[in-house]
Amino acid sequence: MQIRSFAPGRVNLIGEHTDYTGGLVLPMALDMGITIEGEIGGDRLTLRSVQFDESFTRTLPIGADDDSLPEWAGYLTAAARFLHLAEGFSGTITSSLPKGGTGLSSSAALLVSAMLAFGALDEDTLDRRKQIARDVHEVELDATGLRNGLMDQLASIASIEGHATLINCGTLDIRPVKIPDSMDVLVFHSGQPRMLADSEYNARSDSAKQIQSLLGPLLDVTLDDVATLADPMLQKRARHIVTENARVMQMIDAFAADDPEQCGAILNEGHRSLAEDYEVSTPIVDAIQQQVNNTPGVFGARMVGGGFGGSLVALAEPGTNLDVDTWWTRARPGPGASLTVLD
Ligand code: GLA
Repeated sequence: MQIRSFAPGRVNLIGEHTDYTGGLVLPMALDMGITIEGEIGGDRLTLRSVQFDESFTRTLPIGADDDSLPEWAGYLTAAARFLHLAEGFSGTITSSLPKGGTGLSSSAALLVSAMLAFGALDEDTLDRRKQIARDVHEVELDATGLRNGLMDQLASIASIEGHATLINCGTLDIRPVKIPDSMDVLVFHSGQPRMLADSEYNARSDSAKQIQSLLGPLLDVTLDDVATLADPMLQKRARHIVTENARVMQMIDAFAADDPEQCGAILNEGHRSLAEDYEVSTPIVDAIQQQVNNTPGVFGARMVGGGFGGSLVALAEPGTNLDVDTWWTRARPGPGASLTVLD
């Protein structure tokens, strides 16, 4: 049987470094992602990456980790091992996402696409999709040691075309949210590759856990509670998380009111909070955020994802073009992951 799976990358509109604390996020699936096309059958897993011009073959069942594999192949064997893949698959992987270190969730997209190609979506319900998101999260944690949240996986697998997705990462409740036609979503790269596993990402998620153990669930915490923290560093981290959760709901309101100026102001304030309170930005990222923010037609801009490089997002008047030396695109809210039987 010939099949094709597709899983999109994502840009997060607002709600950064909140997912691993059970907070609110508002990502949007991109109309770019990872496609795996191939044939089910046999007793081997054979995959070729067009983007990296590399391939591998392993006989099933997939055994312990193998250091000789390139990183992308390691993700795929980890997914096959997790699913106890018993039936072979031979296929090709193509990506329409920009290459490497973008912060647009190419690794979550690769794993979601692989899970679908390997038969994980045996029934297409939202609950099953949420379970696959959790499974991908577990595989990724094993493979990279990154203690991240569920935003990337859920955005890739549970988004609805034409919408951003409001996710409560505590309950995993999901609500599609329409982005008003009065603004374009522009995604652009900082020029600085982002490598989360090498960054201070885990230190941030550890601090968040520490704050939670002191103050309780962070969605219920107020700025008065934050002020009771003795450690000034923890106070700053907590202030970001608490105000960022609030910004997600402010953005929902500003979308509903069709108020692009307010949406831009929320992005700018989100960036300031990530740079000053959460300290996950860099001088290069700050400089391009400011440059784009000063572009006529741009309502606001901020860094996206874990930080320490990678991509940014701006909201702008329809038709606005960016004058940057790096990669940029006008992003359209694409559909969530899909599996198609070709014959
Ligand atoms: C990375 C992680 C996500 C999320 C963001 C920050 O993209 O993979 O889970 O924590 O950083 O919001």
